[in-house]
Amino acid sequence: MYIASDDRYEKMIYRRCGNSGLKLPAVSLGFWQNFGHSGCFANMEQMVHTAFDLGITHFDLANNYGNPYNGSAEENFGRILNGMRHYRDEMCISTKAGYEMWDGPYGDKNGSRKYLTASLDQSLKRMGLDYVDIFYHHVFDPHTPLEETALALDNAVRQGKALYVGISNYNKEQTEKITAFFRELHTPFIINQPSYSMLNRWIESDGLDRHVQKDGIGLAVFSPLYQGFLTGKYLNGIPDDSRAGRENGELKNELNDRMIARLNALNHMAEKRGQTLSQMALSWVLHNKAVTTVLIGASRPAQITENAACIQKLDFTEEELSEIENILAE
Ligand SMILES: NC(=O)c1ccc[n+]([C@@H]2O[C@H](COP(=O)([O-])OP(=O)(O)OC[C@H]3O[C@@H](n4cnc5c(N)ncnc54)[C@H](OP(=O)(O)O)[C@@H]3O)[C@@H](O)[C@H]2O)c1
Repeated sequence: MYIASDDRYEKMIYRRCGNSGLKLPAVSLGFWQNFGHSGCFANMEQMVHTAFDLGITHFDLANNYGNPYNGSAEENFGRILNGMRHYRDEMCISTKAGYEMWDGPYGDKNGSRKYLTASLDQSLKRMGLDYVDIFYHHVFDPHTPLEETALALDNAVRQGKALYVGISNYNKEQTEKITAFFRELHTPFIINQPSYSMLNRWIESDGLDRHVQKDGIGLAVFSPLYQGFLTGKYLNGIPDDSRAGRENGELKNELNDRMIARLNALNHMAEKRGQTLSQMALSWVLHNKAVTTVLIGASRPAQITENAACIQKLDFTEEELSEIENILAE
């Protein structure tokens, strides 16, 4: 049986999620990649144990995570939980529904009450849970009335299947609209999950980060390392054993000479701060007051250990911040 490290809560800091009572670790672990059946189960289990031993209490899943089929990440998480269910009350577990999940009109990409309700039941079964801590609508659906999506999430709470609800990939305007329904229903809506990193700052230009602060909503931001670009991994090109190396899509195309030069300049700055590039990139994201937690991905336990240590230096001088702006503008 797994026994967690005694000093785990001294190794992490916890931040209140918006105006809610729920605290989340500054660094959380996501299950989008590397947790499906095509991966090595012992490595997955070790990643979860490493994270929990570092005080990472928040685990972010979704119905469609995992290869070779949707749901396999939740199945593996359920299996890992079997060895650590005695810590269930020390964990915040989230899942989502919204992207294409199963065949036919009810499992397609959408935000209907029919899909969200059935999907949450499936997720609970796969993970062997009575309830999740946070249930998200994964992506804005222009074809379903927002009121229906809000009602479906609210209903999950009233049925005792979720404690809090969230939305993901909703911009400021869409967030404002659904918030109005949640207010009417008194739904515990506490969190929005957008992408955000030094290389992807749409939440700043959209105004979502300022808006959620004003409204008392937390932000869990995904791909804070831009899927691994903002680590030491790509400083000399694309290694085979990397996400970009395994894929043939857009990610690879973005790693041009200009990008590699910027990454090297950022890496040099991180060294001067006494951090690794991944740690500085995470500290920079956490420096935005709107951000409650960064959702990191990992392919091996050592990455989690390295990344969690970002909390040891979260502050930036004005000079450092403007140096980063200059590098990013190059
Ligand atoms: N709501 C949504 O629509 C949505 C979308 C995407 C993600 N998410 C959530 O956000 C989580 C994180 O997303 P992400 O995986 O894109 O995040 P990320 O933290 O930007 O990238 C993680 C990847 O970077 C590499 N890496 C991480 N730390 C490293 C280190 N110290 N040194 C070298 N390489 C390192 C690893 O890839 P390799 O080692 O394989 O190269 C790792 O899998 C997901 O698991 C999911 O929970 C949500």
